[in-house]
Amino acid sequence: MIRKITELIEKNENRYLEELKEFVRIPSISADPKKSESMIKCAMWVKKQMDVMGMENTEIIETEGHPSVYGEWCRAEGKPTILIYGHYDVQPVDPVELWDSPPFEPTVKNGGLYGRGAVDDKGQILLHMKAVEAHLQAEGKLPINIKFLIEGEEEVGSENLVPLIKDNLEKLQSDLILISDSSMFAKGMPSICYGLRGISYFELRVRGTNGDLHSGSFGGAVINPANALARIITKLKDEKGRILIPGLYDDVLPLSDEERRVFADLPHDDEKYRKMLGAPELFGEEGYSTLERVWARPSLDVNGIISGYTGEGAKTVIPAKASAKISLRLVPNQTPERVEELFRKYIKEITPPSVEVEIESLHGGMPYISPIDNPIFDVVREALKNGFKADSVTIREGGSIPIVTDFKELLKSPVILIGFGLPDENAHAPNEWIDLENYQKGILSMAYLYEGLAER
Ligand code: BES
Ligand code: MN
Ligand code: MN
Repeated sequence: MIRKITELIEKNENRYLEELKEFVRIPSISADPKKSESMIKCAMWVKKQMDVMGMENTEIIETEGHPSVYGEWCRAEGKPTILIYGHYDVQPVDPVELWDSPPFEPTVKNGGLYGRGAVDDKGQILLHMKAVEAHLQAEGKLPINIKFLIEGEEEVGSENLVPLIKDNLEKLQSDLILISDSSMFAKGMPSICYGLRGISYFELRVRGTNGDLHSGSFGGAVINPANALARIITKLKDEKGRILIPGLYDDVLPLSDEERRVFADLPHDDEKYRKMLGAPELFGEEGYSTLERVWARPSLDVNGIISGYTGEGAKTVIPAKASAKISLRLVPNQTPERVEELFRKYIKEITPPSVEVEIESLHGGMPYISPIDNPIFDVVREALKNGFKADSVTIREGGSIPIVTDFKELLKSPVILIGFGLPDENAHAPNEWIDLENYQKGILSMAYLYEGLAER
């Protein structure tokens, strides 16, 4: 039976690409209030895909923010039920001038499809929908019960998804939650991910005076908030990459020797990694390897700074205000609540008395880790082997999908993360793309997976 499906998937490769282009063409930037119509259009596009392929009880679920889309096919009596989660919203496109082709005009180049959302997460949602579609087209039915929940606010913190889940506990019940919104370790190495970092995101606003000042008339008499902010920022981390917020490491679960060995056995090459990033040298917390730093250690980064005159030429001014967006990535067993407490306390301590500082918490998300001895992993490995003709690796990731922990707690089913992105596909950056071979092999392996899960 799977033979017929694989043939069908091969035959439809071109259509799958055209449909992904259609999806990417919709500018569903959740952070941009001017895009709310595109968000609705995108949700409707997803629902229509589900309707056309024969999913049932499809609906657009309104929230306080952007809507989610639900659909199911639950006629495989006695078979397991899986819930596939993903997000149709995308990141903003700035700096737009650095794109080689316009972000919402999907362009095929060197075996990749370029466009905002191509890999994060539109390509990875659509590959599941196409795998489901292939089963329905070939057999008129699915080997298991499948539910889709596709949300529109992942990139802005999924705030309205928790109430949505709580309101729909019964509907979202499943034996397994499947998420494709992460990366493979490398091309040709399909990956199962068992850990994500959490996040705490803050905006810091520093105020010095009532208004901007002439830097000749007043320079020397008052503090400059931009300088003050820089001082605050330098006190957040030492030269060895260690975060200086007191107590921050208290809850950090240390890496076991076993896990360190598993990381070290992966074919990671620092020099290659450095070159891919174009960095003069790598930098991170002393005493840890790159994979350990990114997957299993907390990090702190300034995501943006604004202050003073940034136009052309010179303007002699002491800005009245300076602000920075600063985020931390968290690891088990840190919590965003505790980190926020420690962050606020420390910022108060290190802020010079000559400025006022205001801290706004923008969002938080729990870190996630799951046991790696789940027997379902073997079924996934088998499916990935069939699709990619390669053995898969087991990895953690540095990114965050805050809802994963809520899923586990509210729906009480195990979560499996199977990412089909590549580390160099520029998620969140200009020239985002998805490798089309991975997209196609992703469809194939997920078609195998649904089949494999039926036999469990
Ligand atoms: N798909 C990413 C998360 C991700 C990236 C997982 C790389 C594994 C590897 C997701 O869309 C994302 O960008 N999440 C945000 C969460 C934030 C907005 C709360 C993130 O990680 O910055
Ligand atoms: Mn994503
Ligand atoms: Mn993202």
